[in-house]
Amino acid sequence: MLKGRHLIDPMDFSTEEINEILDLAGEIIANPKFYADVCKGYVLATLFFEPSTRTRLSFEAAMLRLGGSVMGFSSAESSSAAKGESVADTIRTIACYADICAMRHPKEGAPKVAEMYSDIPIINGGDGGHQHPTQTLTDLLTIRSIRGRISDYTVGFCGDLKFGRTVHSLIKALSRYENIKFMLVSPEELRVPDYIREEVLIKNNINFVEVDKLEEIMPSLDVLYMTRVQRERFFNEEDYIRLKDSYILDLKKLENAKDDLIIMHPLPRVNEIAVEVDKDHRAAYFKQAKYGMYVRMSLIMKLLGVSVNA
Ligand code: NCD
Repeated sequence: MLKGRHLIDPMDFSTEEINEILDLAGEIIANPKFYADVCKGYVLATLFFEPSTRTRLSFEAAMLRLGGSVMGFSSAESSSAAKGESVADTIRTIACYADICAMRHPKEGAPKVAEMYSDIPIINGGDGGHQHPTQTLTDLLTIRSIRGRISDYTVGFCGDLKFGRTVHSLIKALSRYENIKFMLVSPEELRVPDYIREEVLIKNNINFVEVDKLEEIMPSLDVLYMTRVQRERFFNEEDYIRLKDSYILDLKKLENAKDDLIIMHPLPRVNEIAVEVDKDHRAAYFKQAKYGMYVRMSLIMKLLGVSVNA
């Protein structure tokens, strides 16, 4: 039962519960009109203390397409956080006005704090360099919709694997599916955090390699997940400038790739995928953004406990 639950970490839901969400998203994609009014009378709050385009607007679009209403803020400066209000007090207030809340915060763990003070479902829309579980639902739906299954893949992650929260969440989630092998491509300084390597990969006996060249591993990949170097999490600008263009995916680098490779990116893209790749049939990143709205429609319905027959 997902009604009333929070989503802070991808492991908060079992794979069965995730599949339930992906199944409903598939039904919504097939028959969006059936769902146009199911959330009438419900209010979603979007509390974004950090910049966002896709996550916030896809949440809002999702609620509007379900017939519900939305309210919120899109920067910490425009909320009472600028006056020094705590997350706990903000959420106790928002819970008086809304039925469900999506929240993004630069501090790791902030949505977890919100959950402790909230009697409405809290959805983590990204907390610092930590986790981003709804991007993971988006990514899983993208893979499943394109290839029909989530198992037996070699998945490459490339770029900023240290600060990239989308990477951490997707590795966690994929590690529970059958026969998934990871190829982690990054500069030495931007490798996955120790807790991902030790607590997720090694502990669960997952097959993985860490390399610094993308070209070498390209032929074996089924999924390639490109990421942006997370400038806002760097301590100094020189390091960012030195590392930002470590990997630029172009058509030349794709010459040895599989014909059914899925090229993903959570977006925003800065420089890491050349625009020429956009027209390649393997580029899935803009479709991925659309799947993000459908999966959030499904998630909102499940957490509110509404269904099409209600
Ligand atoms: C990602 C994020 O915010 O972590 N964006 C998103 O939600 N689609 C990726 C990023 O900012 O690089």
